[in-house]
Amino acid sequence: MNKNDFPIFKNNPGLVYLDSAASAQKPSCVLDAMDKFSRNHYANVHRGTYYLSEMATIAYENARHTVADFLEVKDNDIIFVRGATEGINLIAQTYGKTLERGDEILLSESEHHANLVPWQMLAEERGLVLNFIRVMPDGRLDMDDYASKLSEKTKLVSVTQMSNVLGVENPIGMITHMAHQIKAKVLIDGCQGVVHSKIDLEKLGVDFYVFSGHKIYGPTGIGVLYAPSDLMNDLPPWQCGGDMVKSVSLAGSTYVSSPARFEAGTPAIIEAVGLAAALDYVSSIGFEKINLAESQTMLKLKTYLKEIPDVLCLGEIDFKKNLVCFNLKGLHPQDVAMILSEQNIAVRVGHHCAQPITERYGVTSSIRASIGLYNDEEDIDSFVIALKKAQKILGGHK
Ligand code: ALA
Repeated sequence: MNKNDFPIFKNNPGLVYLDSAASAQKPSCVLDAMDKFSRNHYANVHRGTYYLSEMATIAYENARHTVADFLEVKDNDIIFVRGATEGINLIAQTYGKTLERGDEILLSESEHHANLVPWQMLAEERGLVLNFIRVMPDGRLDMDDYASKLSEKTKLVSVTQMSNVLGVENPIGMITHMAHQIKAKVLIDGCQGVVHSKIDLEKLGVDFYVFSGHKIYGPTGIGVLYAPSDLMNDLPPWQCGGDMVKSVSLAGSTYVSSPARFEAGTPAIIEAVGLAAALDYVSSIGFEKINLAESQTMLKLKTYLKEIPDVLCLGEIDFKKNLVCFNLKGLHPQDVAMILSEQNIAVRVGHHCAQPITERYGVTSSIRASIGLYNDEEDIDSFVIALKKAQKILGGHK
């Protein structure tokens, strides 16, 4: 579906791209929107009174509106950041600074380093306690363990919507509901999840939500933090400079309200325009159609992987939505990936920036195949043929 919308495939004939979980390819409409804006309307935003600057400001704020519409939240609750990593760090350095010695933050064992390391640093700095929701061997969160670890000391629950190693969608609604019963805030890392499913943040009551533009067919360098302005206006800024101040004197400064409060300096203006085009593109196809096509492709991948001897999957394959991490018994994943690369097949190998959960499965590295809306069943056929070839060449299964 839709491969023709993505120039990368025309420019790299035969490319089988199975690394969308790391970064997705860009459709022409995104590249064109950024190019057109750069050529015709580019200037800095929120600063000039001249025509171009006004046009650029309108484009940038329209992009915020498109994001807000996509998530069905208010424009002022959308803060542009460099990516999900920066969004999580922003919350750690603002809301996190309201936490006190002995307060607890509850994460899961399957978090990306971006949703682990900022909390480790904060915990060290402020004397906080980190707890972890257990992941069951099949890859799902152990909700009994979650319930048992929630207490009046828990101030924040921060978990991924879909693990970038396990590919399992977590029950965000239930997680949020249970956290709110003990008045903890909830941050959801939507990096992988936002690409494949609609999430109703207001209905679920999620307090903070982050995602990166480049994983949802937009450009790098832009991401989104959903954080209600009512809450954020009571928090101190984290990065300081132009555009986030109300007034500055040598004696001190005052700050504007969120979102500008948290967007110091010249923002990623062109990238915001590109992100809006990407979200419009996804919306124009619709999650129903995307899900149908992707689940068919994924079903084929799962069926084949079950048939290939010596595939060792991280977690239960049937629970995976859009990606699968696995190893081939007796073969180094790096060697397998090299052979795949020779066949023009792109996969990711390693711990996928999620070392703890990878090691939970007794390995230090795995091969990850992840799909996007442009993958088709032919891609899976090529992938499986190449995997079997790797087994033959590397001396695995005969
Ligand atoms: N977080 C990205 C991944 O999982 C880079 O590959």
